[in-house]
Amino acid sequence: MSIEQNYSIPFIASLALREKQIQQIYRPIIAVHKWFARRPGTLFRGLLLSEFGERPVEEMYYQPNCFDGVTIADPFMGGGIPLLEANRLGCNVVGTDINPMAAWVVREEIDAIDLQAYRKKAQDIVAQLTADLGHLYRTKCPITGRKDASVKYFMWVKTGTCVVCKKMFDLLPGYVLAEDSRHTSYVLVCAGCGDLNEVVDSSRPGDCRCGRPLRTEGPVRRNKCACPHCGHVNGAPFHGEGPPLHRLFAIEYYNPDLKDRPGRLFKKPDQDDLARVMEAEVAWRGMRPRFVPDDRIPHGDESSRLHRWGYRRFWELFNTRQLLGLETSARLIARIKDIRIRRALATNFSDLLRYQNMLCRYDTWALKSLDIFSIHGFPVGYVQVESNLLGLRNLNCLPVGSGGWINIIEKYIKAKRYCSEPFEVLFDGRRKLTVRIDGEWIGETNPENPGAHERHIDVRCASAMAMNLKVASLDGVFTDPPYYGMVQYGELMQFCYIWLRKLMGRDFPGLEQETTRHEDELTGNDTAERDLEHFAEGLAKVYTRMARALKPGAPLVFTYHHNQQDAYLAVGMAILDAGLTCSASLPCPAEMGGSIHIHGTGSSIVDTVFVCRDRGATPRAWLFDDAEGLAYIMAKELAELRLAGMNPTAGDIRCMAFGHITRMTIWRLRPSWSAAHPAGRKLAVFRKVMDSLVTLKDVTERLSRVKVQTGATTGLFRDERERDLANAVAF
Ligand SMILES: C[S@@+](CC[C@H](N)C(=O)[O-])C[C@H]1O[C@@H](n2cnc3c(N)ncnc32)[C@H](O)[C@@H]1O
Repeated sequence: MSIEQNYSIPFIASLALREKQIQQIYRPIIAVHKWFARRPGTLFRGLLLSEFGERPVEEMYYQPNCFDGVTIADPFMGGGIPLLEANRLGCNVVGTDINPMAAWVVREEIDAIDLQAYRKKAQDIVAQLTADLGHLYRTKCPITGRKDASVKYFMWVKTGTCVVCKKMFDLLPGYVLAEDSRHTSYVLVCAGCGDLNEVVDSSRPGDCRCGRPLRTEGPVRRNKCACPHCGHVNGAPFHGEGPPLHRLFAIEYYNPDLKDRPGRLFKKPDQDDLARVMEAEVAWRGMRPRFVPDDRIPHGDESSRLHRWGYRRFWELFNTRQLLGLETSARLIARIKDIRIRRALATNFSDLLRYQNMLCRYDTWALKSLDIFSIHGFPVGYVQVESNLLGLRNLNCLPVGSGGWINIIEKYIKAKRYCSEPFEVLFDGRRKLTVRIDGEWIGETNPENPGAHERHIDVRCASAMAMNLKVASLDGVFTDPPYYGMVQYGELMQFCYIWLRKLMGRDFPGLEQETTRHEDELTGNDTAERDLEHFAEGLAKVYTRMARALKPGAPLVFTYHHNQQDAYLAVGMAILDAGLTCSASLPCPAEMGGSIHIHGTGSSIVDTVFVCRDRGATPRAWLFDDAEGLAYIMAKELAELRLAGMNPTAGDIRCMAFGHITRMTIWRLRPSWSAAHPAGRKLAVFRKVMDSLVTLKDVTERLSRVKVQTGATTGLFRDERERDLANAVAF
């Protein structure tokens, strides 16, 4: 079969949509370490099954499958989703990424580990950290008087110094610490005494016990803040030179004695809490750090924001209790003799950093920490949250909160267990069933079943532009390239990499490169002067190499979306330069609409899956000449996405249209294309033909008038696909 024949938009979209709501449930493997922009594993499983399976994808999806002898490459492997899916299906895989952190993460995901031995060492570390530092994460419960309640989160506010009266003031953009969705009421900080007040109606908050009226809006507005002492309006930066200063102003904690009390527990820090901060400070000053990197923060599209806030070195992004905890953790890990376990714990350490820094923010609605990478940048807020380094468990022994060692270790164990016991999630109406897929596994060999056939795995850290593969050696390329300038992988991952390298040593295999930044990274980046032509030329080089390595007719499949139509020119040029044509452009939800980096931006959550081959066939019904034709194709796809439970937005429709227009432009240009022309000219030609074919405005207008029959079952669409395929055009 082939993707063109067998892929089912509604079936895969319904899986991908659910997966992206909470990806760790569907693909626990991703918890090994953060990577950005991971596409749904369910999507890549669906694509691989459609291409290499012999039965309809819906029938094969919940069964074990093994495509022994099939070789798949991913030139932009990132966190490894396409590669892991192919490996799990028994394929040999070869993947590369220019970012050493990506190669590290993929190896860590794939390499087998003795989980019992890992658990033992991880528990030893937590026990030692608890003995050394546990008291720094305790607090007195003001309700019961219990002295050893565990802190979940410390809340810190940035402070400024008034240029006139020289007094310090808090930079609170709002006084709401917690909303009433996960708590029983609103919690408001008093602007006068700093007490925390439980308030039922936030629009009529009343007065604090100190007599001062409570407010929800804070004093910081558009980078201006009036000094509460003398009234002078100060402008940002409010703290003068150097990194910003913070004041501990609230704590969320856990007291098992109050387990039956609804809602959460908050308090204003008392003298002992402030003394613990001082104790950590003193302990840290008395330490000679061996594992805290001293690296400067280089300029960059994302990282320069940190300079504007006065940060110059990465360690300045942490408070002293965090530095103390991280240095102590690193020392314990460095002592571990077993390299595989040390590597795993160092990976955990690197992932833990996401939560153990002073760029984490507190989500006042969900009442949890938003880690540094909750958006694809380095967001600096006025209120930051410090998670308990150790993590904590409730009376049922389940981890509470996020961002501590306990949380990271639990997630890692689940992730690695999934390698030997993979599953899929099936919905029976509203009922969620976990279906074990016995016979599939992730890895090179199967430690649980040594007789099972081995798969070859080749994971490289190198630019895909230089990836050498044997001619006609691949059965498929499945990848998710950078989406032009959407994520600055090199800039962001440096935050973790410098710590990992310091901990494991600069000679440790995989950590030889000094930085995660690379001039050949295929992302648009203004600071590094990488423009659309750079991206297009690079992508074209990679796809040309891939096309040479593919067997005749084998597919190069990749996902893509961008809000700017120009970003599709690079994709079109790369496919044409590689001598391929695009036989399908299929929509699939691949992000979560509610995710913080998408929410409210009007961005699409729908990717186009481009299927490209040097020869093959495409249904005639997929070819269009004008807006009318495209509107008909898209109306059917939108109906299929709705059937999957999605409600496509204008942003989604825009990206779907860009995908189809790109495909059809490739189809038009292929006979006359010359890869030898300069990139600027090729991009201009592509744009011209695109615009002469269909404009977004035209297709959206027509779309509102097209009516398609919507079926209640996916079967209807499959029947139609079969009819379409009966009338295919060869290329
Ligand atoms: C969208 S991500 C891939 C996401 C991935 N599929 C996953 O599951 O996490 C794109 C990747 O391309 C990598 N990349 C950028 N330029 C590259 C190049 N020249 N060669 C190889 N990889 C590159 C980035 O480092 C990034 O990890």
